[in-house]
Amino acid sequence: MRTQVAIVGAGPAGLLLSHLLYLNGIDSVVVERRSRDHVEKRVRAGVLEQGTVDLLREIGLADRLDREGLVHRGIELLFDGGTHRIPMSDLTGGRAITIYGQQHVVRDLTEARLATGGQVFFEVDDVAVVDVGTAAPRLRFTVEGRQTELACDFVAGCDGSHGVSRSVLPASSRQLLERDYPFAWLGILAEVAPSSDELIYAYHERGFALHSLRSPTISRLYLQVDPDEDLANWPDHRIWDELGTRLAHGGWSLNEGPVLEKGITPMRSFVCEPMRFGRLFLAGDAAHIVPPTGAKGLNLAVHDVHVLADALTDHYRTGSEASLDAYSATCLRRVWRVQQFSWWMTSMLHRFPEHDAFEQNLQLSQLEYLVGSPAAATSLAENYVGLPWT
Ligand code: APR
Ligand code: PHB
Repeated sequence: MRTQVAIVGAGPAGLLLSHLLYLNGIDSVVVERRSRDHVEKRVRAGVLEQGTVDLLREIGLADRLDREGLVHRGIELLFDGGTHRIPMSDLTGGRAITIYGQQHVVRDLTEARLATGGQVFFEVDDVAVVDVGTAAPRLRFTVEGRQTELACDFVAGCDGSHGVSRSVLPASSRQLLERDYPFAWLGILAEVAPSSDELIYAYHERGFALHSLRSPTISRLYLQVDPDEDLANWPDHRIWDELGTRLAHGGWSLNEGPVLEKGITPMRSFVCEPMRFGRLFLAGDAAHIVPPTGAKGLNLAVHDVHVLADALTDHYRTGSEASLDAYSATCLRRVWRVQQFSWWMTSMLHRFPEHDAFEQNLQLSQLEYLVGSPAAATSLAENYVGLPWT
């Protein structure tokens, strides 16, 4: 088998890259370890930046998103028992975020790719990324028990944080920069109407909590928990009690309902620099992880593959290597902006075990400044809805 671009991973990054390349007349093959059903059901975050929505519209993949996505023009910050609205759209010339589950993005992209003759191999085992330091890179893998080789011009490593692609970069050619946080998020998806029209980010002495939603009948909620917390210690009634306590304010009450899904997500900041080795390009979670407090993971992946698709298109049209050579630095500029924003939101809103009253007062002062100063609120708002792509 031969293709122009071999893509490892059928998450949002791999599927969108494949579709963008198709629209530019470039052939690609996607290989994915999991089943289509598994990939489309995996519940992840669900906040799309303005730039992500604009791109999906531009390429004609936003029909369902425009029908079912929920446009949000503000968020609430809750601290000291009171909520304060950050009017994001007013502060950013009308930009907004759209709530639309990542698994729906993946479903829409998979359908589009298959409807346009795209080759996506699911349930592929033992993917090996070979010879990317030469002019003849390849993927080796097993599909339906058969050993297969895929020759290509370039490999895109879109295989997430636990994929194989990143390990192909020799240790001497890359740096891994990271921070762990002393907490994790316990998230639930519940069959119950959201208790608020807007997202509520809560700073509370018992730890951070987040009220989010997916639709008029589905709520998504998160609690800060210990990093090694066992889900077995969190029966549904304990989760609802804790959410009720941390999100309490005024006459507000939390709607409770059947829990459809629950899980614990570790919190981590991570960057692999550079995002390229020879003919291998890393994109999305394979290259970087942000803590979910800024809701940026999916959006950063979309930005990477947009840059990569443009660079590959330029290369195939002109023969020039310049855009490919600029890929890593172009992406990393946005990666670090988003890393800083995600780290800042995380640091401001969580309880750190090692903090004393000094740090807690700094956090509260920062929150008061944010809700009292249009300049400070604008800084949050423009990062949250996503700074324009350069
Ligand atoms: N071989 C083939 N496929 C693999 C391999 C492998 N060795 N390892 C991982 N994969 C697949 C995974 O099964 C997954 O479907 O690669 C895909 C990577 O998808 P994501 O983890 O969704 O990563 P990405 O496409 O970069 O999207 C980033 O995902 O984790 C969230 O918060 C993150 O929203 C962000 C988004
Ligand atoms: C979500 O709805 O899943 C969500 C929302 C905001 C975040 C993270 C996750 O910051």
